[in-house]
This record gives sequence, C-alpha cells and structure tokens, in this order.
Amino acid sequence: MTLTHTIAVAIACAAVALMIDRAAGLRPAPTPPPCVANAAAPSPGRAKAPRSLPANVKHEDTVADLPPGKGQDETFYACAACHGVALIKAQGLSRDMWDQSFQLMIDRHNMGKPDQAERDLILDYLFANFPPRRRGRGDDNPFLKP
Ligand code: HEC
Repeated sequence: MTLTHTIAVAIACAAVALMIDRAAGLRPAPTPPPCVANAAAPSPGRAKAPRSLPANVKHEDTVADLPPGKGQDETFYACAACHGVALIKAQGLSRDMWDQSFQLMIDRHNMGKPDQAERDLILDYLFANFPPRRRGRGDDNPFLKP
C-alpha cells in the first residue's frame, strides 16, 4: 500500500465510524450547559413535579418536542431543566441503562432526586420511546416502518 492508500483508508474508516456513531459518543461533546444550580431539586414535601423550567435554560424545547405518551410532561420537566431533549432523543437504551443515565444525572450533575413513583414513570416513558435501536440504520428507513 502506498502512503496515499493508507491515508484514504484512514479517512474512510473515520467517516464510517462517525456514521455508525449515532449517539455521538465519538464526536466532541457539546459544551455542557452550565448546571442550573440543582434546578430540578424537589422542595421537601413537594407533591408534584415542577410544571415549568428554570428561567435560565439555554434551549427552547417544549413538552411537544418529546413524543406523546404517559410520562411525557414529567420527563420533560425533570430532564429539560438543564439541557434540551436532543441529548435524550439521541439515545436508545434499555430500561436499566436509562436508569443508569438517570442516576448519573443525580450523581454527577446534581439533579434533584425524584420519588420512586416519578422515577419509574419517567423511566417507563424513556424506555418506551427510546429503546435500544437495532444495529444498522433500519430504524431510519421509512420503508421498514409498519
Ligand atoms: C441538573 C441538571 C440535569 C438534569 C436535571 C438532567 N441532566 Fe442530563 N445532563 C446534564 C449535563 C450537565 C450533561 C452534560 C453531559 C455529561 O457530562 O454527561 C447531561 C447529559 C445528558 C445525556 C447525554 C450524556 C450521556 O450520558 O450519554 C443524557 C442522555 C441525559 N443527560 C439524559 C438526561 C435525562 C433522561 C434526564 C432526566 C431524567 C436528565 N438528563 C436530566 C445535566 C442534567
């Protein structure tokens, strides 16, 4: 192989890796939003999830940017307090892995801890709407949709 071949192959491999990398793990992470100081923290004794976002959110997403379904509102207000929903929609995870993501938001990003019922509702919603994707690009193929 000549040097040109080697370079061409390297570029092709990088392009393929980026195409396959749909959840953006390989691409540079977007600048993390400045963490809204414990924005989603439930006040003690709070019965319901907040129905508004902190004033200083850096995105313009609304509830309607998430697919409709049970838990849509709760998920939006719990999860969009710090970042837009694109970060969430880019993932396709098992319920367990959603739970780990959820825990990460609490442990690393200081997300307020919801009660177990609300957590279950949100996890059910996330898993129902963003389950693991099949390998390959079939999910994007309109001809494969029922
Ligand atoms: C208190 C702020 C905050 C809240 C609330 C929050 N997040 Fe995050 N989240 C972050 C920050 C900051 C990042 C930046 C990327 C990183 O370092 O993981 C992030 C990144 C992510 C990512 C992409 C990174 C990864 O782990 O692959 C996902 C997915 C995600 N959040 C899901 C959620 C979900 C689901 C919820 C609601 C249950 C949620 N977030 C609520 C702060 C928050």
